[in-house]
Amino acid sequence: MINFWSYKKEYYKLKKEILFKVDKNLSKGDIFFGNELINFEKNFIKKYKSDYGIAVGSGTDALLISLKALNLKKGDEVITAANTAIPTISAIINSGAIPRLVDVGEDYLIDPLKIEKAINKKTKVIIPVHLYGQACDMDKIKKISNKYKLIIIEDCAQAQGAKYKNKFVGNFGHFGCFSFYPTKILGTYGDGGFITTKRIEHYKKIKRLRFYGIETVNKKSKYFNKYYANENGLNSRLDEIQSTILNIKIKKIDNYISKRIKLAKIYLNHLKNTKIVLPITNKFNKHVYHLFTIRHPKRNKIVEILKKKKIQTRIVYPYAINKMIAYKKFCKYNGSLRNSESFSKSILSLPLYPELKESEIKIICNVLKKI
Ligand SMILES: Cc1ncc(COP(=O)(O)O)c(C=O)c1O
Repeated sequence: MINFWSYKKEYYKLKKEILFKVDKNLSKGDIFFGNELINFEKNFIKKYKSDYGIAVGSGTDALLISLKALNLKKGDEVITAANTAIPTISAIINSGAIPRLVDVGEDYLIDPLKIEKAINKKTKVIIPVHLYGQACDMDKIKKISNKYKLIIIEDCAQAQGAKYKNKFVGNFGHFGCFSFYPTKILGTYGDGGFITTKRIEHYKKIKRLRFYGIETVNKKSKYFNKYYANENGLNSRLDEIQSTILNIKIKKIDNYISKRIKLAKIYLNHLKNTKIVLPITNKFNKHVYHLFTIRHPKRNKIVEILKKKKIQTRIVYPYAINKMIAYKKFCKYNGSLRNSESFSKSILSLPLYPELKESEIKIICNVLKKI
């Protein structure tokens, strides 16, 4: 069996260190807001050259809290891609705003020309989604946000470590939102998320929002009290166990990403003379291949053939957002979402994770070459 993804080999390599440190921290009595969390926040912003960073409970929470920090009004609109993950949209709706969907290009990334066409008086935010591990065209998106005075929240859940013009994602907009869901580039063995931001006032507000709205930064404030809420917040903590795992794994992240890129190159090399549409890397980008997503009109048949050979695949994602019953009445869009809708019928993600063997990729390619 070739798994689509598995954390087991990685876990066995790290197990001794993880269990030793988790035991040490729990024995000390650190469950929440201890040194592991403080160190992880420092390690993350140092590694990704961000100004401020706050760890939260998940990538979905990172998006929701960033949106809540903006105090959006009822009816305000947020522009994002129609082929994104469900949580991008649920975060927008749960913040009280309305998602306005825009189509993507051949690279699966939001089309900046279409963003500009979707802007109206109610537009407040753009959420570019760096899907599959590749950054959106941030120069064009920043130009639009400056022209119309819009906030940018980057959805970096699938692209930690990716670069655009040599700069890490998460540093282009007002906020960068990351996920540590286990399959992600930096995954923990549970849930986790992170927000990067440039402004101190956003940093302070987000720190309150993740902890019931309680003031935890300004200890001189007369309201600095564990049981006094300054505003209505959420419970979105990254616990010490997850922080410990992430501190161990963030040291190895460059190695994990290099392996992903190396494996992706094997796919690209072996499949270049086939009818399969391969992922493209745009000029100026460093693609980190969270997913290796191909396209083929006979996608469903390919899934079956690979399944018979005991090769797992995944469709990420099989429905454009506007096609889901939950969102039909909540999302707006003008213009066609043709690419998002048609790609959902022909895309297929192949196995790719750092522990996957080169020989396994060659087996997959040999099957695909015969199609
Ligand atoms: C593009 C995108 N945004 C947001 C999220 C939400 O992250 P989490 O699962 O950590 O809540 C995900 C995770 O699947 C994602 O892929």
